[in-house]
Amino acid sequence: MSDPVDATVVPSEPVPTEPTTAVRLPIEIDVLTLFPGMLCGPLAESIPGRVQSRGLAIIRVHDLRQWGLGRHNTVDDYTYGGGAGMVMRPEPVAAALNVLRRPESTVILPDPGGEVFGQARAQDLAGRHHLIILCPRYEGVDERIRSMIDLELSIGDYILSGGEIPALVVVDAVLRLLPGAIDAESTAEESFTGGLLEYPQYTRPPVFGEMAVPAVLTSGHHGAVRMWRLKEALRRTLRRRPELLNGRTLTREESKLLVEVRSEESANPESG
Ligand SMILES: C[S@@+](CC[C@H](N)C(=O)[O-])C[C@H]1O[C@@H](n2cnc3c(N)ncnc32)[C@H](O)[C@@H]1O
Repeated sequence: MSDPVDATVVPSEPVPTEPTTAVRLPIEIDVLTLFPGMLCGPLAESIPGRVQSRGLAIIRVHDLRQWGLGRHNTVDDYTYGGGAGMVMRPEPVAAALNVLRRPESTVILPDPGGEVFGQARAQDLAGRHHLIILCPRYEGVDERIRSMIDLELSIGDYILSGGEIPALVVVDAVLRLLPGAIDAESTAEESFTGGLLEYPQYTRPPVFGEMAVPAVLTSGHHGAVRMWRLKEALRRTLRRRPELLNGRTLTREESKLLVEVRSEESANPESG
C-alpha cells in the first residue's frame, strides 16, 4: 500500500491527549477517493488545518486507485443490464477496507439516498474514534458495496459529481465540534445545536444607513441580552424553519417568549 496523502502535516503517531469530555482524542479519519487533491487543500486550511496541527484529529486521504485492479488499477466497470455511466466495483473497496478497518471504525458512504446529515449526527460522529469515508464517483457504487458500509449519509436533495464534497461537509462539521477546536461557547449557541436557529448578530458601526443596532445589545444588561437573543432565535426559527419547533420541548421561559413572538408576528406580519 502506498502512503496516504496527508491533508496537512499530521503527527505519524496519534498524539496522546487527555480528553476533556467523553470524546476520545485524537479522532482518526481515513478518506478513500480517486481525487485526493479535492480534499487535501480544504482540509489543510482554517479550522480543519488547525484541529490537525493541535493533534485533535488525524486525517489521512488515500487514493483508492492503489487498490485498483490489473495493469490500469481499474476501480469501475459497466453496469449490468445496460444503462449510462460506470459503477464502482466492490473489490478495490473491499481491499482498502481490509487494510484500514478496525473494530471501532465507522465506515461512511455519501449517498443521495442516505440519512440526511444534520447536527445531531455530526455530534454523534464527533464522539467516535475512527471514521472511514468512501467517496464514490461515476453513477455510484455496486450494490454489494453497501454491505461493507455502516452509515450512508446524504447532504441534501441534489446530485453532486462525487462523494468528495459530501465527505468534506461531514468532516468539517465533525471537526469543529471536537473539544478544543473552537470556542465552546460558539458551538453551544450555533444554529441547530439547541434545536433553534441562531439569533441575529451585530458588530460596529452602531448605525449603518438607517439601521441601528438594537439598543438592548449595547445596554450592558446581560440578562436582558440573553432574553432578547432567545426571543429572536425563537422568532427567526418560527419564520424560517417552523418545523424545528414541532416536537421540541420548550422550557417555560421559551414558551412564554414564543407566545409573545406569535402575537407580535400576527400583529405585524410584514416586519423583519
Ligand atoms: C453522480 S453521483 C451518483 C448518483 C446516483 N446515480 C443516484 O442517482 O443516486 C456520484 C456520487 O456522488 C455522491 N453524491 C452525490 N450527491 C450526493 C448527495 N446529495 N449526498 C451525498 N452524496 C452525494 C455519492 O457518493 C454518489 O454515489
